Amino acid sequence: MTAVGPFGLSVRDQALEADVQTGLAAVEAGLLDATKSDVPFITEAAQHLVRAGGKRFRPLLVMLAAQFGDPHAPGVVPSAVVVELTHLATLYHDDVMDEAEVRRGVASANQRYGNSLAVLTGDFLFARASHVLADLGPDAVRIQAEAFERLVTGQILETVGPRDGRDPVDHYLDVLAGKTGSLVAVSCRLGSLTAGAGERVVDILTQYGERLGVAFQLADDVLDIASDSHESGKTPGTDLREGIPTLPVLRLRARAAAEGRPEDAELVALLDGDLTDDARLAEVLRRLREHPALEQARRDTVRYAQEARAILAPLPDGIAKAALEELCDLVVHRAG
Ligand code: IPE
Ligand code: IPE
Ligand code: MG
Ligand code: MG
Repeated sequence: MTAVGPFGLSVRDQALEADVQTGLAAVEAGLLDATKSDVPFITEAAQHLVRAGGKRFRPLLVMLAAQFGDPHAPGVVPSAVVVELTHLATLYHDDVMDEAEVRRGVASANQRYGNSLAVLTGDFLFARASHVLADLGPDAVRIQAEAFERLVTGQILETVGPRDGRDPVDHYLDVLAGKTGSLVAVSCRLGSLTAGAGERVVDILTQYGERLGVAFQLADDVLDIASDSHESGKTPGTDLREGIPTLPVLRLRARAAAEGRPEDAELVALLDGDLTDDARLAEVLRRLREHPALEQARRDTVRYAQEARAILAPLPDGIAKAALEELCDLVVHRAG
């Protein structure tokens, strides 16, 4: 049994293991190649986060989904390069939006180069993703365009907040499906499609990716509170400081309103106050980490991951299906 990929997937099949490792190595080469520019500064800025690492979760999904067809088909590695480049570009933009200082354990691009260059480098990465995507044909271009639209819509809806009368948890779950579920679904879809899997299999894997992506983002939102920067490579409490109402906070607010405990009201007041002060943020994080609302959000995350797993049921049993099932656990129990 060997751990495959940065996720530590335990795979008991040499052929699958070799396919995934070889595929991911080719993706690394593809990412470096796709981020080269004639302008040395652009290469440096575009490769800043490529070289910093990251989990390569989306390329891993492309490789696993491709196991349902011919995993060596020529479009598989480029599909993984496209989804990772798109993801990377959104990180450059997201860190500007979130005023983040650390990403993948290094200075974020906005911190290092300033907001303008971080945004423009993100645009450059989108351009390069489109270039690689073009070779995959018009269907792939349409699939990616639709996901990209959903992703951006999710980021916009998160920023503008729920319309009057809308349940904040429903709004939040829509945001997650858009900003994260969409691209994770595309990873599964392009991986299986370019490998030549049948339509029904592609559909099932797409639905699985959508659900898994929401679970992945729910776990990320829990980790914003629960993990330290050493594990996540990001600054804990960034969502809280930015006032992004993630599920643990929404659960806390609902509890505070329904049960009227003074300590909950106090924590809500702290959350609504100025969190630019490091000591105040640390205090809020300390309290939230011990609060039942965080545990409740963890249980919700596990539920979404279980739903993702259940979607796989109609697929033929085998090592690839087992790996995708295992991923449901790894996603929710990860530390970073
Ligand atoms: C971060 O994604 C943004 C989210 C959608 C949660 P990842 O957690 O996949 O980031 P990297 O690629 O490993 O850095
Ligand atoms: C951003 O979500 C998701 C996208 C980049 C589309 P987050 O803001 O939670 O991502 P992190 O925590 O900064 O990685
Ligand atoms: Mg962010
Ligand atoms: Mg986050």
